[in-house]
Amino acid sequence: MKNSIGSSVSLTLFGESHGAMLGAVLDGLAPGIPVETDYIAHQLELRRPAGRISTARREADAFQIVSGAFEGKTTGTPLCILIPNADTRSRDYAATRALARPGHADYTAWLKYHGYEDYRGGGHFSGRVTAALVAAGAVCLTALRRRGILIGSHIARCGGVADREFEDGAGDIAALNEKAFAVLDEAAGERMRTVIAQAAAEGDSVGGVLETLVLGLPAGVGEPWFDTLEGLLAHALFSIPAVKGVEFGDGFGLSALRGSQANDAFALDPEGRIFTKTNRNGGVNGGISNGSPLRIRCAVKPTPSIYKPQETVDFLRGQEAVLQLRGRHDPAIVHRARVVADSVCALVLCDALALRYGTDWLGGEGT
Ligand SMILES: Cc1cc2nc3c(=O)[nH]c(=O)nc-3n(C[C@H](O)[C@H](O)[C@H](O)COP(=O)(O)O)c2cc1C
Repeated sequence: MKNSIGSSVSLTLFGESHGAMLGAVLDGLAPGIPVETDYIAHQLELRRPAGRISTARREADAFQIVSGAFEGKTTGTPLCILIPNADTRSRDYAATRALARPGHADYTAWLKYHGYEDYRGGGHFSGRVTAALVAAGAVCLTALRRRGILIGSHIARCGGVADREFEDGAGDIAALNEKAFAVLDEAAGERMRTVIAQAAAEGDSVGGVLETLVLGLPAGVGEPWFDTLEGLLAHALFSIPAVKGVEFGDGFGLSALRGSQANDAFALDPEGRIFTKTNRNGGVNGGISNGSPLRIRCAVKPTPSIYKPQETVDFLRGQEAVLQLRGRHDPAIVHRARVVADSVCALVLCDALALRYGTDWLGGEGT
């Protein structure tokens, strides 16, 4: 489906880093979901670069909703959101046009699009395009919140520093969703920012791990084989530029345990509802949600564009070369990607819920 994802609720992304605009078309969403423009702006603010730990490119993200919303609610027809690009400096890219940035998509874009690609600022492969994803994701997050489904992510690790683990799910999520640098332990966050700033001062970059928690998802959502909940989420999360690993629950860690340690024992709560005493499987069994919180981790690599000299190839001349990069880049992506991860999870869950309960379920009377 190229630049589209989802079956009942689907999203199409378009635009380039230095083009006039980028945007998203969200289709199949129930009618009657509040389109909260302040909330969309808030989510875009969380993605926006800030301070010395982010790129110097500053975009206002003055989004426009040009269809699919009427009198503050979704109509159920395609919702199209446009976001203009204002702060572009395309000259930075002309001199190094054919010098493939190691770790970036310049070479693979050229292979696929035969030189017709808009290479400026990474073009369609740029992290900038995630602004449209976040704007559309905000509407999905609103739809889920009205159904009691909450999503939040924190920077679990960055540059060798670990955040504390989730303790009070709903309280932690509420706090994280207000933070520009999403950590549960502010002291750990300060150490992470120092490591990022140090890497930036050395012309280098760092990676990190995002951990996402989803509360309130009903049990029984997902399919047993190819559209497992893990498969759907991983498909979408791997679309986020720089995400190179996705795991559920204890993920790779499960492989080192015995069954007696890895299994999540079932029990009954005082009202007779089934729950699991632990959550090492991340809330999914057999591709289907089991009613425990979803727990997802994404590995976000260090920003590929760094200012140290790097060996590369000029793919137009067929010559080896040394790349000394200019332009404006993030010394870390992980803190900006977390709201993108929330948005992607919200989109996938809206799709899976609409498939299970029907389109109108998300538009029903909310809280
Ligand atoms: C929010 C966000 C911001 C990003 N900023 C940059 C950046 O400033 N410089 C850069 O080289 N890559 C940046 N990236 C990552 C690249 O777009 C990505 O690494 C590249 O497209 C190659 O894709 P891959 O890493 O998934 O293989 C960013 C990604 C995200 C999600």
